[in-house]
Amino acid sequence: MEIKRVGVVGCGLMGSGIVEVCARAGYDVVVREVDEALLGKGLSRVEGSLRRGVERGKLAASDMEAAGKQIKGTTKLADLGDADLVIEAVIEKMEMKKEVFIELDRLCPPRTIFASNTSSLSITEMASVTKRPAQVLGMHFFNPVPVMKLVELIRGLETSDGTMGAGRAFAESVGKTVVVCKDSPGFIVNLLLVPYLLDAVRALELSIATKEDIDTAVQLGLAHPMGPLTLLDYVGIDTTYYIAEAMFEEFKDARYAAPPLMKKMVLAGLHGRKTGRGFYEHSKTQ
Ligand code: 3HC
Repeated sequence: MEIKRVGVVGCGLMGSGIVEVCARAGYDVVVREVDEALLGKGLSRVEGSLRRGVERGKLAASDMEAAGKQIKGTTKLADLGDADLVIEAVIEKMEMKKEVFIELDRLCPPRTIFASNTSSLSITEMASVTKRPAQVLGMHFFNPVPVMKLVELIRGLETSDGTMGAGRAFAESVGKTVVVCKDSPGFIVNLLLVPYLLDAVRALELSIATKEDIDTAVQLGLAHPMGPLTLLDYVGIDTTYYIAEAMFEEFKDARYAAPPLMKKMVLAGLHGRKTGRGFYEHSKTQ
């Protein structure tokens, strides 16, 4: 099945990146946010990133303009009704994702494929609320989406070979390298990443070192582009907390138990770059 029109639900950090890469690859993209304020914020994030792409010499100015024209914003889910593929990138909570898929299942024709950008939640469970479980898959992008080359494709219990094939062709067409994973909490990357990030917070809680030294140790000692606490601020402390909770719920393994400091930071609104403060101070322009 040929994918021409893509719907994206959610224009936060991940949704806006997904919108950008789809538009840059020439797809018609309709993105939905819950209200005009969030939609405006999300679309300006896309614009800013396209501009940065031009500044860094990754994108011609004419391509930036062309990409901009491919994108339409809306607050109505019904406007995604004629999409060939809908990618959901709402908050990492199963109930919210299910609500979106129940509604989309009613609005979209039988041919439409549903993908979730979930980082940890079960694709099979999301698919179970639709009448098209064979056409539901996980398509997990990484932050920053325009830069990170990976997409994890997740096969739910009922996902068909055709859907996996269409998902792979699509992800490759937007310039990504695909790895395939079964429907298991955290898939490949977060299975490995989350315990490491939580351990970094535990090290800080135990005053083993300062936040700066923990980050410098990993950056220079392991040649990671960012230390773990900087990465937590970058990805979102709230997002990582929800991922850890979901993984703990499934595995009941202490490695995935979020440390108390992280919970307190989430409750206090210290979510990292997106709220201006996390482990570090940030300007609120992102
Ligand atoms: N469009 C296209 N290319 C862009 C771009 C844009 N909007 N913005 C930057 N780039 C390119 C730059 O040109 C540069 O390319 P080059 O190396 O070929 O010159 C490259 O991206 C790096 O950009 P910068 O030089 O501006 O930035 P840094 O070197 O400071 O790197 C970073 C920034 C890419 C964020 C880097 O610090 C990094 O890789 N950090 C780790 C990110 C990471 O681990 N992400 C995964 C998080 S886990 C996740 O997402 C899963 C979820 O479920 C939690």
